[in-house]
This record gives sequence, structure tokens and C-alpha cells, in this order.
Amino acid sequence: MKYTSFAMNSFAFFLLTIFFTISNAFPLSNLMNKRDVFVPPITYPTNTTVWNSGEVHNVTWDISQAPVNITNKIGRIQLRQDDITFPLVLAYDFDILLGSYNITVPLVISGAYQLVLFGDSGNFSPEFTINGV
Ligand SMILES: *[C@@H]1O[C@H](CO)[C@@H](O)[C@H](O)[C@H]1NC(C)=O
Ligand SMILES: *[C@@H]1O[C@H](CO)[C@@H](O)[C@H](O)[C@H]1NC(C)=O
Ligand SMILES: *[C@@H]1O[C@H](CO)[C@@H](O)[C@H](O)[C@H]1NC(C)=O
Ligand SMILES: *[C@@H]1O[C@H](CO)[C@@H](O)[C@H](O)[C@H]1NC(C)=O
Repeated sequence: MKYTSFAMNSFAFFLLTIFFTISNAFPLSNLMNKRDVFVPPITYPTNTTVWNSGEVHNVTWDISQAPVNITNKIGRIQLRQDDITFPLVLAYDFDILLGSYNITVPLVISGAYQLVLFGDSGNFSPEFTINGV
């Protein structure tokens, strides 16, 4: 749990109540055949990106190093702040070989965030800014 402010609207409060550390549930390395583990780097957003809640943005990642056989091709995008990956799913069940996927920026407390792209494992974007409430 992370408590940032008591002056928050009810939706933000709802989000905070469901936020908890799940990093341990998604370890950054796994014991499967490393040849097949594909953890593409996120290329957008970058460290200068500013998004506003409610906007649609095209998250992109580099698929040029994709191995022939990927253990888990199903992608998922989540939000992260201060080393906590939120159980708030921005996109899921897409082919990680697409290389990009549109997400709607959620309503959050304004601040610095990262995205996490999960396939076999998780890869973090740089910190970028979301303007929310
Ligand atoms: C932002 O990213 C650029 C390009 O990767 C890098 O040169 C720069 O040092 C980064 N800035 C910060 C504040 O991390
Ligand atoms: C995807 O997001 C971009 C903005 O990054 C937008 O221009 C485009 O219309 C969106 N595409 C879909 C299918 O929503
Ligand atoms: C996202 O951007 C990539 C690269 O510019 C583009 O190929 C792709 O069609 C875009 N996807 C959507 C859904 O807009
Ligand atoms: C990929 O999987 C196929 C089918 O299981 C197999 O025949 C092939 O050798 C694999 N390729 C690599 C590079 O692991």
C-alpha cells in the first residue's frame, strides 16, 4: 500500500486501495530457457514524455531482437511508481510482436510514472510524467 495524500477524489482513492506491491509476483528473471525469453525495451514513452489522463497513446517497444520462439507472446501493460507495479492493467492479451499498442492514460495523481511491459518477464519504461488530478 502506498499513501500519498488524504486529499484525493474517490476514484483516486479507489485506485490506491487496490495498489499493492506485486513485484514479487513478476520476477525480472525466470528459469525458463533464456533463448526463448523476450523482454523488449520500451521505446515510447521516453523520459521526456508528458501524458494527460484520458488521452490515448501508442506505447511502442523494440521487437528487432525477438527470438524465433518466444515462450510467452501474450503482452500486458501496467503502471508503476516508486518501485511499485500497480495491479491496474492498461492493456492485455495482445501479441507482443506487434511492437506497439494503444492505451488510455488512467486517472492518477499527477506525478512521475513508468510503464511495465510483460511478456515472459517485465521491462520498465523510463520515468515519464502523467498529469492527472
Ligand atoms: C533521457 O534519455 C536520454 C536518451 O536516452 C538520455 O540521454 C538522458 O540522459 C535522459 N535524461 C534523464 C533525465 O534521465
Ligand atoms: C493510437 O494512438 C495514436 C496516438 O498515439 C492515435 O493517433 C491513433 O488514432 C490511435 N489509434 C487507434 C486505433 O486508437
Ligand atoms: C503505433 O505506432 C507504430 C509506429 O509508429 C505504428 O506502426 C502503429 O500502427 C501505431 N499503432 C496504432 C494502434 O496506432
Ligand atoms: C522453434 O520451435 C520449433 C517448433 O518447436 C523448432 O522446430 C525450432 O527448432 C525452434 N527454433 C529455435 C531457434 O529454437
